[in-house]
Amino acid sequence: MPGGSGDREMVPIIDDVLRAATRRLLAAGVPHAARDCRLLMGSVLGWDQARLIGQGDTEIDAEPRARFAALVARRERREPVSRILGQREFWSMTFALNAATLDPRPDSETLVEAALAQIGDPMQPVRIADLGTGSGCLLIALLSELPQAVGVGVDVSRQALQQACLNAQIHGVAGRSQWQQADLLQSTWVDEIGAQFDLVIANPPYIPIGAKSQLAPEVCDYDPKEALFAGEDGLDFYRVITNSLHDLLAPAGAVVLEVGIGQAEPVTSLLRAQGMMVHPPWHDLAGVARVIVGTCR
Ligand SMILES: C[S@@+](CC[C@H](N)C(=O)[O-])C[C@H]1O[C@@H](n2cnc3c(N)ncnc32)[C@H](O)[C@@H]1O
Repeated sequence: MPGGSGDREMVPIIDDVLRAATRRLLAAGVPHAARDCRLLMGSVLGWDQARLIGQGDTEIDAEPRARFAALVARRERREPVSRILGQREFWSMTFALNAATLDPRPDSETLVEAALAQIGDPMQPVRIADLGTGSGCLLIALLSELPQAVGVGVDVSRQALQQACLNAQIHGVAGRSQWQQADLLQSTWVDEIGAQFDLVIANPPYIPIGAKSQLAPEVCDYDPKEALFAGEDGLDFYRVITNSLHDLLAPAGAVVLEVGIGQAEPVTSLLRAQGMMVHPPWHDLAGVARVIVGTCR
């Protein structure tokens, strides 16, 4: 009989929908398929991960199923979950992203750790410059840990700076931060950002242009190109930054630079060539020499 219980569509449970989506992503070669499906489902339902695991036997209606399927299709095309959701956790803070901002990497938390160790007393009124600020994650994380610090985030991208400015507002540090458009590859940028700084930090573009074909689609197709590549050897921005340190740094200042794999030595040499004292590198969780700290003698 029409409308009778025998005709009613079977409503699947969340766990079954997750399993099917995970199989689909695995078949497409997507890494971390199960985790990513859970994150996407959590965002569709507005549930945290603990609830998702605990209540996976709940039925899920057609409308949220369709929204979930649309997100899974984007992940199948290798769009990172952080781009799909428009946000990324970094230093236990949530940063909103747009198309012009690099998706912040966990490795870059090593830079924040190294900078905090270099500063020591968190109550110092330090002045920080963040060169190539992107989402503002590095500067905003530091300002959140250093209540007396002020900082300027510099980027060539106006769209990235708009996002950084919004992130600063979200995290309550807008009053202690400025966002300045400048092109590090033009000779005028040091004058444009002005004052001397106690701390210069940078995670600049550092991928050699020839390494493009080795990048995962999540990086190559979705991170902004301007955030990735830096000439033949990947060192273009380190040359520019180290050449400017004498003008940028206050007398007892320090520079903290994130580097790519194999770049610790050449960047150390660039700093030494400017008369800086270079400290032992900081390693990321994978054991890669990831951050170089230089101080004025
Ligand atoms: C590797 S991303 C780092 C973003 C952010 N600091 C982070 O750690 O997630 C490098 C940043 O440098 C910026 N950039 C690229 N070329 C630039 C230039 N010529 N002058 C200033 N900034 C530039 C990019 O827009 C990008 O935001």
